[in-house]
Amino acid sequence: MRVGVIGVGRLGSLFARILAGHPAVTELALAGSKPGSADELADELGVQSMPDADRVLAVVDAVVIAASTAAHPELVRRAAAAGLPTFCEKPIALDLATTDELIELAASAGIELQVGFQRRFDAGYVGARDLIRSGRLGDIYLVRTASHDPAPSPESFIATSGDLFRDLVIHDFDAVRFVTNREIEEVFAVGGAGFPEFEPYRAHADHGLAVGTMRLSGGSQAVFTATRHNPAGYDVRMEIFGSAGSIAVGWDARMPLRSIEPGSPPAPIAPYCDFLDRFSPAYRAEMHAFVDLVLKGTDNVCPPHEARAAFVVALAAGRSAAQGRPVPVSEIT
Ligand SMILES: NC(=O)c1ccc[n+]([C@@H]2O[C@H](COP(=O)([O-])OP(=O)(O)OC[C@H]3O[C@@H](n4cnc5c(N)ncnc54)[C@H](O)[C@@H]3O)[C@@H](O)[C@H]2O)c1
Repeated sequence: MRVGVIGVGRLGSLFARILAGHPAVTELALAGSKPGSADELADELGVQSMPDADRVLAVVDAVVIAASTAAHPELVRRAAAAGLPTFCEKPIALDLATTDELIELAASAGIELQVGFQRRFDAGYVGARDLIRSGRLGDIYLVRTASHDPAPSPESFIATSGDLFRDLVIHDFDAVRFVTNREIEEVFAVGGAGFPEFEPYRAHADHGLAVGTMRLSGGSQAVFTATRHNPAGYDVRMEIFGSAGSIAVGWDARMPLRSIEPGSPPAPIAPYCDFLDRFSPAYRAEMHAFVDLVLKGTDNVCPPHEARAAFVVALAAGRSAAQGRPVPVSEIT
């Protein structure tokens, strides 16, 4: 199978490396935002570099879009026009109208569209989902999520990625839905950027940190915390408290949090440093699932309507933070 990767920044280069080593991928073609920008990586991997996305789309059987978020809509339109099964990083677009347009376009073109919520391929999140489905945690009372980035992203990324909710907390919104099998019905978010480290976000009218509550279907309640600056490391976790047990996802020897209780283990020597470090097995499983989806017709673990559902919650969270009130997700249409 011939695969293209469009956008070879932090995540696209990892996807290219994974696909270059995939036994079913016979050819790999890369393109960046400018001619030549994928050359170095292509040389290293022994694959093709193309001057632009259209040249890639002309010679592949499937495409992975890992370009900056603002570029997703046009690239998905072109991939759909070429009739190619498509993997697109989250979010598909930065507004709901465009998201819906692209979902309809993919459906009418008859192409598969898998969206990049890699926590759906992470052993911990999948294990938590399985436990809840088995009933062994009983009724799910409370869920706590954390997405704490170690350091602000480069300014070029901030400018094109949407806000904290559409770019980062959207992963928690998706994970809550995926793991609990409950809908998020209402969200109340409070954002802030009142520290020097968050100046790049303030400059883009964005938040550097946020907390929020979520009312879930079936009576469960959830909370999230998010920050763009957590020098202890990349801390992404979920805790679930049920009537028959409590569990934690992401609580392992590399968790960047230390207990100050006497006799507790010391701080980890090598805490998770970034998303690539924490989730590389999940990204690998995600790319392998996309290849299987194309070649074998296996299930699409993250279809567009699921991605849309998390995106709508992110929009509700943004409105909530802006207006200082709880926002029913049904308000976003
Ligand atoms: N699922 C996750 O955990 C996760 C983590 C990080 C980023 N992402 C998503 O992945 C995407 C890329 O993020 P990143 O961190 O790799 O960003 P990045 O800024 O490191 O890389 C983006 C690359 O896309 C290139 N680009 C921009 N427009 C392009 C175009 N029209 N054609 C080809 N290339 C183009 C840029 O030059 C840059 O090299 C974003 O949509 C982001 O939301 C997802």
